[in-house]
Amino acid sequence: MALDLKDYIASIPDYPEPGIIFRDISPLMASGEAYQQATNAIAKFARDKQVEMIVGPEARGFIVGCPVAYELGIGFAPARKKGKLPRETVSATYALEYGTAELQLQKDAIKPGQRVLVTDDLLATGGTISATIKMVEELGGIVVGTAFIIELTDLKGREKIKDYDMLALLEYS
Ligand code: PRP
Ligand code: HPA
Repeated sequence: MALDLKDYIASIPDYPEPGIIFRDISPLMASGEAYQQATNAIAKFARDKQVEMIVGPEARGFIVGCPVAYELGIGFAPARKKGKLPRETVSATYALEYGTAELQLQKDAIKPGQRVLVTDDLLATGGTISATIKMVEELGGIVVGTAFIIELTDLKGREKIKDYDMLALLEYS
């Protein structure tokens, strides 16, 4: 029987600031069964799209993308926060609530024409995923979809990535 994955998301009121309810995937990761169910659902989405490579942003995009890559027997490339990757990179900046942040992807991470799925734990404003998509495309990758465990629907991140097929396993308003 399938689990209700919402039972494996912790909701923390007033974190990181008053008025915000933080949705935490730690209990899902702590349950072998729930983590496997989430991974398998995203792996099916990826398999149906004949994905050849997965890219996920630091840090929680790794947690979602790596087991899917393992399940499909394909590669994973990390999009890392600025200054962490040792060789030549492309980069993309994105807006945070206060200021901006920068992600980088190693230039040889993607081969031109490769079919790529971009993964993360959660879609909020869409800034992180959009920056990741931009770098994949700059390297000639074809982004065939995005996949998340959680979508925070009120923040309308989906509108920023409406040109891409998207899978979100759970929604919160
Ligand atoms: C969180 C989350 C997503 C992003 C979503 O990561 O894991 O990557 O924010 O927000 P957005 O859609 O508004 O861009 P965070 O930047 O906190 O980094 P972390 O995973 O390293 O904690
Ligand atoms: N949970 C985890 N990460 C986040 C959230 C959240 O509710 N909002 C923005 N990033």
